Amino acid sequence: MKKICFYIQKGGVGKTSVSGTVAANLARKGKKTVYLDCDPQGNASSWYCGETIEHDIADVLARRATLAQAIQAVNPSLSMVPVVAIGGTLKEWAETKLQQNPKAFEFLSQDLAALGFEFAIYDCSPSFSQLERALIADADEVINPLSPEFFSVDGIEIFLAELRKIEDAYRRTIRNDKIVLNMVNKSFARHREFQRVIQKLHYHIFTIPQDAKIAECQIAHQSLYDYAPGAKSLEGFESLTSALL
Ligand SMILES: Nc1ncnc2c1ncn2[C@@H]1O[C@H](COP(=O)(O)OP(=O)(O)O)[C@@H](O)[C@H]1O
Ligand SMILES: [Mg+2]
Repeated sequence: MKKICFYIQKGGVGKTSVSGTVAANLARKGKKTVYLDCDPQGNASSWYCGETIEHDIADVLARRATLAQAIQAVNPSLSMVPVVAIGGTLKEWAETKLQQNPKAFEFLSQDLAALGFEFAIYDCSPSFSQLERALIADADEVINPLSPEFFSVDGIEIFLAELRKIEDAYRRTIRNDKIVLNMVNKSFARHREFQRVIQKLHYHIFTIPQDAKIAECQIAHQSLYDYAPGAKSLEGFESLTSALL
C-alpha cells in the first residue's frame, strides 16, 4: 500500500482540495483507496462525510473503535477515515498519547494494507507538530501543494529542511519530488513569473488552475468528478494521479 501525505506548513493552499480529488480519482481508476483526514479541523470530513461521523480516526488511534467501525464509504470506490472536528480528540491524542505510541501510524497503515487498500491518502493540517511529523515519518511520499506566491519558495525550503530531519531521525528516505501549483491564473503576470521561478527547482510541477467548481463540489459534499465531470481543473488532477500509478 502506497502512503501519500499532502502537506505544507501553510493553510489555504489546497491540501484538502488536492488530496481529496486525487483520492477520488485513484478510486475511480479502480485502485482501492482510503482517504484519511488527519487535520483536526476536519475539512476533508465535512466535504465527504458531512455530519454523519460515529467513530473517527482519533477513536481508532486510541483503540476506542476498530478501523472497520471508523471507515466510511464515500462512494462505491472510495473509503474514508474521517475526523470529528468539533468536540473531537485527535489533537489532544497527538499531544498526550502519540509520544508513548510512536508506531501508532505504522500500525494503522498495516491494518489498512491488511484490508486490501492499495493507496492511503493523508490530508494533513498546516501545523508542524508531532502529529504531522509522525504522519510524514510513516509516509512513502509527501506531495507539497503550493499557491502561486513569492513566499511559497521559502515554504518549500523550510519544509525540505524539516523533512531531512525526519529522515535522519527515522533512518528512512521519504519521496518528495512533486509540487502541486494550485489556484493558478495564467492571466496574472505574477502567477506566470512564479511558475517560472518554481520550475527552476528540482521538482515535478503539476499545475491546477483556479476553478470555482472545486469550492462548489465541497459545498455539495461531492467529489469533483461527480459534481463537475467537465471541470477545467480535471486535466491537472489527471496528470498528478497518473504520476502516482
Ligand atoms: N484550484 C482552486 N481554485 C479555486 N478554489 C480553490 C482551488 N483549490 C482550493 N480552492 C479553495 O480554496 C480554499 C482552501 O483550500 P483547501 O483545500 O481547504 O486548502 P488547505 O487544505 O491547504 O487549507 C477552499 O475554499 C477551496 O475550496
Ligand atoms: Mg485542509
